[in-house]
Amino acid sequence: MTANPTVTRRNFLLGAALCATMLSGCNQGDGGQAAAEDQPAAAPAAGGNVLVAYYSAQGHTAAVAQTIADELGADLFKVTPTEPYSDDDLDWTDDSSRVTREHEDESLRDVELTQVTPDGWENYDTVLVGYPIWWGIAAWPIDNFISGNDWDGKTVLPFCTSSSSSLGRSGELLAEAAGSGEWQEGQRFSSNVGESGGREGIAGLGLA
Ligand SMILES: Cc1cc2nc3c(=O)[nH]c(=O)nc-3n(C[C@H](O)[C@H](O)[C@H](O)COP(=O)(O)O)c2cc1C
Repeated sequence: MTANPTVTRRNFLLGAALCATMLSGCNQGDGGQAAAEDQPAAAPAAGGNVLVAYYSAQGHTAAVAQTIADELGADLFKVTPTEPYSDDDLDWTDDSSRVTREHEDESLRDVELTQVTPDGWENYDTVLVGYPIWWGIAAWPIDNFISGNDWDGKTVLPFCTSSSSSLGRSGELLAEAAGSGEWQEGQRFSSNVGESGGREGIAGLGLA
């Protein structure tokens, strides 16, 4: 299953809602900034069947996820490793740290989660999946959340936070691992987007 560029009316409305509610400037990717007045005057609210699921090691993705969920009135699900990553674990400059070892040996990336399937999973038809970028791909603690759930019939909008890397192929790779679902292109946020969260573009959530 690859990222699906098809834009349904519902996805368009969801994206419009995200743009209109989250942004002071709505980034249209490399095409530049959309003026505020280009956004819908009254964006439709997303329904109760939207879930924002995320993994966050250091809080940046969590802040963005919280903002999106608040703005959409969506439910929130935190992907939590049974053994959380400490600051030392996350020290990618240390050759012997947990992340460095996992990065170098893919077999070590099978991260056990406290809960794989969110309550009421079958009731969600749109799921936003958030994660940090680690070495250019989605941080692997999200992997067992992706592979452990049935995405059939769900529209999926990936988003990431990173210092500088783009979303890259991270969403596509997750779509492949999921094996089903209508995966949209997704959107990247800068790590330092701040607590008020999402003051930069999210227009790329599969709507282009
Ligand atoms: C192990 C590790 C690897 C990272 N690799 C990248 C990278 O390849 N590109 C990048 O732009 N940022 C990278 N970062 C920075 C994170 O993507 C960024 O700080 C992100 O916002 C963290 O999200 P979080 O606070 O939700 O965990 C890395 C951070 C860590 C801890």
